[in-house]
Amino acid sequence: MKNLISMRDLSVDKILQLLKLAASLEKDPSQINLSRRVMAAMFYEASTRTRMSFESAMKRLGGEVIAMVGTSGTSVEKGETLADTAKIMARYSDIIVMRHPMEGAARYVSEQVDIPVVNAGDGANQHPTQSLLDLYTILKSQGSLEGLKLALVGDLKYGRTVHSLAYALAPFKPEFHFVSPKSLAMPNHILSDLRKMDIQFKETTKLDKIVNSIDIMYVTRIQRERFPDREEYEKVKNAYIISAELLKNAKDNMKVMHPLPRVNEINTDVDSTKYAYYFDQAENGVYMRQAILATLLGEAK
Ligand code: CP
Repeated sequence: MKNLISMRDLSVDKILQLLKLAASLEKDPSQINLSRRVMAAMFYEASTRTRMSFESAMKRLGGEVIAMVGTSGTSVEKGETLADTAKIMARYSDIIVMRHPMEGAARYVSEQVDIPVVNAGDGANQHPTQSLLDLYTILKSQGSLEGLKLALVGDLKYGRTVHSLAYALAPFKPEFHFVSPKSLAMPNHILSDLRKMDIQFKETTKLDKIVNSIDIMYVTRIQRERFPDREEYEKVKNAYIISAELLKNAKDNMKVMHPLPRVNEINTDVDSTKYAYYFDQAENGVYMRQAILATLLGEAK
């Protein structure tokens, strides 16, 4: 594993190895030492969890971080290209973690440099490190990844986390319910890939019909920044609002997940229910990202 660009590049064995290492690092981070190693964070888009949890992961393993937080104050403002910026970062660091609004940007950068590159989100395309931490979170909450019934809810068109998650879960024979407004349905190329893999899925606009039979409700924010037309966003922005009342007859094991940030799609009254799992999910990002950094830097035992 030289880079981490897309879930489609990872074998099931590699996914299972990363899950095992994340669990082991959660118990004992002292087993990996990344001292004198430097991670370059190249974030051309806003982030709280992904960048901070990568920084926390690197520093808790003894490593160092240099960070480009947005393009303001960098030479991108003077017109420096992505390729040139990445080539410079590769001379200052041992691994690049990057987020960029352009689909395919991380793969492009991985072809320009000879150090590992991690895709921390490329436009509406993929967010593989989020999916790996999501798998880890699902495994911890359900005890298994096999044969789960999941509702993926909200913006399935522009939400890169759900695109990656569909591929990440596919080897574990899930039953997917894709719940979205019709205009924000899961892209056809992903549905077509799922059909080829013989994965069961249904598309619906109605969450209340399935809420009591699912194991995981994975809620996403309507991605305002990716809508070409503001009026279209206004039409769908309140499509799903999860409340404690909606969950009152949910299965005991059911967990609500969300990659965060949330806007209004999960009421704060859900936070104190046994179903809320999104803050644990964000914490799990540190353990999974430690596993990813250690593996790509050749330090995983
Ligand atoms: N889940 C996630 O990607 O959050 P950030 O945008 O805050 O990094």
